[in-house]
Amino acid sequence: MCGIVGYVGPQRAQDVVIDGLRRLEYRGYDSAGVAVVHQGELAVAKRSGKLANLEKELADHPLPPAHTGIGHTRWATHGPPNDANAHPHTGGARRVALVHNGIIENFRELRARIEADDHAFLSETDTEIAAHLVELQVQSGVDLPVAMQRVCQQLDGAFTLVAVDAEDPDRVVAARRNSPLVVGLGDGENFLGSDVAAFIEHTREALELGQDQIVTITRDDVTVTDFWGRPVEAKRFHVDWDLSAAEKDGHDWFMRKEIFEQPRAVADSLIGRRTTAGLLALDEMRLADEEIRDLDKIIIIACGTSFYAGMVAKYAIEHWTRTPVEVELASEFRYRDPIVDQTTLVVAISQSGETADTLQAIRHAKSQRARVLAICNTNGSSIPRESDAVIYTHAGPEIGVASTKGFLTQLVACYLLALYVAQVKGTRYGDEIDEIMVQLEAMPDHIATVLEQAESVYELARAHVGTRSVLFLGRHAGYPVALEGALKLKELAYLHAEGFAAGELKHGPIALIEDGLPVLCVVPPRGRDQLHGKMISGIQEVRARGALTICLAEEGDRKIEPYADHLIRLPQVPVLLQPLVAIVPLQLFACELATALGHDVDQPRNLAKSVTVE
Ligand code: M6R
Repeated sequence: MCGIVGYVGPQRAQDVVIDGLRRLEYRGYDSAGVAVVHQGELAVAKRSGKLANLEKELADHPLPPAHTGIGHTRWATHGPPNDANAHPHTGGARRVALVHNGIIENFRELRARIEADDHAFLSETDTEIAAHLVELQVQSGVDLPVAMQRVCQQLDGAFTLVAVDAEDPDRVVAARRNSPLVVGLGDGENFLGSDVAAFIEHTREALELGQDQIVTITRDDVTVTDFWGRPVEAKRFHVDWDLSAAEKDGHDWFMRKEIFEQPRAVADSLIGRRTTAGLLALDEMRLADEEIRDLDKIIIIACGTSFYAGMVAKYAIEHWTRTPVEVELASEFRYRDPIVDQTTLVVAISQSGETADTLQAIRHAKSQRARVLAICNTNGSSIPRESDAVIYTHAGPEIGVASTKGFLTQLVACYLLALYVAQVKGTRYGDEIDEIMVQLEAMPDHIATVLEQAESVYELARAHVGTRSVLFLGRHAGYPVALEGALKLKELAYLHAEGFAAGELKHGPIALIEDGLPVLCVVPPRGRDQLHGKMISGIQEVRARGALTICLAEEGDRKIEPYADHLIRLPQVPVLLQPLVAIVPLQLFACELATALGHDVDQPRNLAKSVTVE
């Protein structure tokens, strides 16, 4: 939610900042802006709409050739997405420019306080007050880092702030509370970004910042303190992917590229998980065997697609470990007084590692003495930092707003966690775990086989351009797949799409069925006879009422043929692993239908990639 960039170094700041914003645009695209410091003055350009609008403006009216700059791409919270509300904001004297990600909750009180002193505000944002306050501080004679400390002490809420002072041209100062910020360490230049994509083109060395910290960058130095000016040691890390991972690589959309990367992402997420003796070993799993054996309940918390990964995990963990699992939306968790104690393991799933709802839920769980394990794709992000243990997925950067490879790799991490708990608790024999690992290790090839059918799925999608509504049905582990398929279609094609547990249909939703309504059905493998038979009955029922059925069923499943208007074949895999292959055609379907409708697949309306406000 909002992308932030800062730069000091020998390069032209405008170019470095705009390149960084381009890579962060997935975080918000309501407006974009840049400010540079040149010869004791600020130069600011900002435009509503996508970054392209700002780039056009800068092509006609470039900013001066400065070497210090900040930039912002916005997901609007306070005030509509117009030019006035675009960041950077400046103080009244235009000495300080500042960008912000998050929400300053007490901005009204603070604003009222200085409005009384004749301070005019030009925007409706909660951000502008911070620019005024920092400017008042530097005008009083303190330097920018101290000004930032003093202002942060007054702010409530979540914020990353990045500021420059026209009279202090060679440094950028940033503050972080509950919103993401990382530092890129260059040679004679340094960078700030909401995530490493902002500077990956220039450096793969980075610093992770903690809560309530202030960082000051100059060309040759990076200083980190807390909000009270006390020095802090920041953790350095190396980014294990490069620029090519953040490029479209010949695809029309990042999302399509990321769908096709899934065999590789799943394989990478499985690498190095077994010892030479064949035992599962999860490196970053900092929970002692004792703690795992003592667990009597697991609660999974997550949002959106990650929540659906958690729903699949419940089937696997309960089946393999006989440990009860609850799956809860992170945004609901702490508001219902959940029963959590030191024998509960809370598993927080998040691709970005920055989702505010999930982060708050983790804090609540920890306050109740639960142990927290994060499943996360983003090194240096807040959720793994605040958790007791972590399993990193190895999807590489996911830039399309709609999660795809993030989901598949989360599933892999959940399976690994389930098997690890089974190994430690002894609820499965070693050879059973081995067999499942072998099946998992075969999944990249199976996913690749599904991707070979992309053209026929695209054709089907294009044939549905006039459709207003689509239903998705599944059972067992196929139910979360149905929900995820519907979410993909909602967020990309802006269509009414709903996922149902097939058995639930006759309790109400079947009333929605009308002539020609497309219903995508995730058919369980035949190995689970009862499940398979019941699913076929459900499909018959909707078809009898005029639905057009598009069935995803395993190779060799002949029983489905009479009830499928269209058939997409899936490889034969065990029911618990089927989500890894079944979701792929649904991703392709949503991507292609949205493309055919003329939508921006990577940047769907009203959304942002990581939701850093509650
Ligand atoms: O980064 P997270 O996994 O915590 O994000 C959770 C959701 O915001 C995310 O999955 C969202 O639903 C995606 N747009 C789904 O495609």
